[in-house]
Amino acid sequence: MAKLFRKKEISRLLAESNKSKLSKSLGAMDLTLLGIGGIIGTGIFVLTGVVAAKDAGPAIILSFIISAIVCGLTALCYAEFSSAIPISGSVYTYTYATIGEFLAFLIGWDLMLEYLLATSAVAVGWSAYFGALLEGFGIHIPKELASAPGAGEGGIINLPAIIIVLLIAALLSKGIKESAKFNNIIVMVKLVVIFLFIAVGVKYVQPENWTPFMPFGFEGVMLGAATVFFAYIGFDAVSTAAEEVKNPQRDLPIGLIASLTICTILYIVVSLILTGMVPYELLNVADPVAFALQYVQQDAVAGIISVGAISGITTVLLVVLYGQIRVTYAMSRDGLLPKVLSSVNIKTQTPMINTWTMGTIAALIAGLVDLRTLAHLVNIGTLTAFLLVAVAVIILRRTHPEIPRAFKVPLVPVLPAISALGCFYLMIQLPAMTWQAFAIWMAIGTAVYFIYSRKNSNLETEQK
Ligand code: ALA
Repeated sequence: MAKLFRKKEISRLLAESNKSKLSKSLGAMDLTLLGIGGIIGTGIFVLTGVVAAKDAGPAIILSFIISAIVCGLTALCYAEFSSAIPISGSVYTYTYATIGEFLAFLIGWDLMLEYLLATSAVAVGWSAYFGALLEGFGIHIPKELASAPGAGEGGIINLPAIIIVLLIAALLSKGIKESAKFNNIIVMVKLVVIFLFIAVGVKYVQPENWTPFMPFGFEGVMLGAATVFFAYIGFDAVSTAAEEVKNPQRDLPIGLIASLTICTILYIVVSLILTGMVPYELLNVADPVAFALQYVQQDAVAGIISVGAISGITTVLLVVLYGQIRVTYAMSRDGLLPKVLSSVNIKTQTPMINTWTMGTIAALIAGLVDLRTLAHLVNIGTLTAFLLVAVAVIILRRTHPEIPRAFKVPLVPVLPAISALGCFYLMIQLPAMTWQAFAIWMAIGTAVYFIYSRKNSNLETEQK
């Protein structure tokens, strides 16, 4: 029993992090851009359309606001943690330090569900936009080769999704600084594209499109909030970069909060304009943002937006796959997953084997599973992680009041408690099938822990 709750000493965590072989090269600006790079993607460019058409109507703006409040509270908790324990591995590491090994393992296992499947889900969204763009040039990819068997389009495999994930893995295996530079450029492109949409779209807003405002009632708004939650995922990946940051105590909170704030404002404005330009019932399309511009005969701008969306979604892939690699890296370093996943390549200073293992698995899932199923699973996994971060903040305040925190959540325990409840509330909006799949995944995790991780944990070997 005691083993399940054995903890990693925080002083030791910090010492390990100082020994880290990963190169420390990122600053606050890089982190903010890394965050935006990970946040704005399939959620706003693809999901907004179907949620407006089917769940929330023009009140999707309320869904975005509700989801943003939950994410904002969580971001504060992440900021406190990452400024107190700036270590690779994110909420997994925080749980290891505060609650104990078993729950830490489970949460790491849960984060794998989040990041690995998010990589696959976003790649499927990328593939859809890419296909639409090629169509614009008269090039047609056969449906069998561009969608998954479950997608209901007679698909066999989603080849573009597979290829893009492998390309991203190749880029990450070359090193984080190169990846960050690439990310910074594309994030700028993505922001320009969104501003372009806002600037052009605002002229075509017809306020009568906003009535009825809430065609599916408050329930629809909440289901919408649980779904568009996907659009905010990614800011948490900033905290997984801790060991590659020059001044983590200061820069991590800035990166987390700045990136989430910027994206929230953009989402609210974009969803308001989108539903103002086009009657909500028409928005159930694969590329709603580009579609809205075509709807008002702005085809050229729509084309530019499509290219921007594709590059924008690419950076999301970069960030989520990066998060996945860092979490498994940390778990492997602690002995909870096979050691080979934390070996660092001397030349590139990156965990090369891990990168290619995770890249290949995510690519295969992207090729074979449909977007809706993936997105729901990603959301339930992420909400669980967020809920735990909030609880862990309260625990850490009690158990380790002495650790210096460059950033502190105000009103503890009230705000973290509201944050945890908010996450739970969004979770219960998700379908039963998602809950079942989630339970199976966690059951497998429990088995792995008792069969492998408990015996191979560094803490266990040291005790012996
Ligand atoms: N937030 C990310 C996206 O919208 C996952 O694609």
